[in-house]
Amino acid sequence: VTALVVAMDGPSGSGKSSASRGVARALGLRYLDTGAMYRAITWWMLRHGVDLGDPAAIGARVAEPVLVIGTDPEAPGVTVDGSDVSAEIRTREVTSAVSAVSAVPEVRGRLVGEQRAIIGDGDIVVEGRDIGTVVAPGAPVKVYLTASPEARARRRTAELSGTTVEAQQIEMARRDTLDSTRKADPLVMAADAIELDTTELTLEEVVSEVLRLVKERT
Ligand code: C5P
Repeated sequence: VTALVVAMDGPSGSGKSSASRGVARALGLRYLDTGAMYRAITWWMLRHGVDLGDPAAIGARVAEPVLVIGTDPEAPGVTVDGSDVSAEIRTREVTSAVSAVSAVPEVRGRLVGEQRAIIGDGDIVVEGRDIGTVVAPGAPVKVYLTASPEARARRRTAELSGTTVEAQQIEMARRDTLDSTRKADPLVMAADAIELDTTELTLEEVVSEVLRLVKERT
């Protein structure tokens, strides 16, 4: 019996987080939000005045922050050097800086290692950009979530205040381009992933489709 790892990849606004937590809850599995780890490192770099235009400067300090991430789908908090930064990592400042930090190979090297250690023997739903391709290429279930640019921007706008669907669509397109064109582990669908377009689906429909795939493949 192979360990159950459900890899959930896709761009922001594709419905990954809600669906991943829903699947983990339904199956009693742990949940790992790898984006929160990249955001936490980014928060630390901003806090310490590291020049984010200088990849070598980021790489030189990546070992310093102490990161602890929770894997309970009900309350997946993240702390950096002992402080809870679960809310701070969702600010616009971090969101607009994270792609520059996540493109640095030393950052990916550190976090991919930690992600594999957390995944350990499995029984976990892992969401990110490179889970099915790099972090857990042996995962028995790999889902690649997509949605139309407008649907993604609409969802993200509903979660934030003081922004418009148009502004979100531009910001998401910028982040998509950075994430899919970087040299280190770009956002790309794994050859053996199942693509799921969530544009016209409710959260419940997405969760039940993933649960169906899990049943079929385990
Ligand atoms: O999923 P979320 O939007 O929180 O991810 C934030 C950023 O972290 C992404 O835009 C991407 O740059 C980076 N990321 C990554 N690899 C992952 C997860 C996130 O590069 N596995």
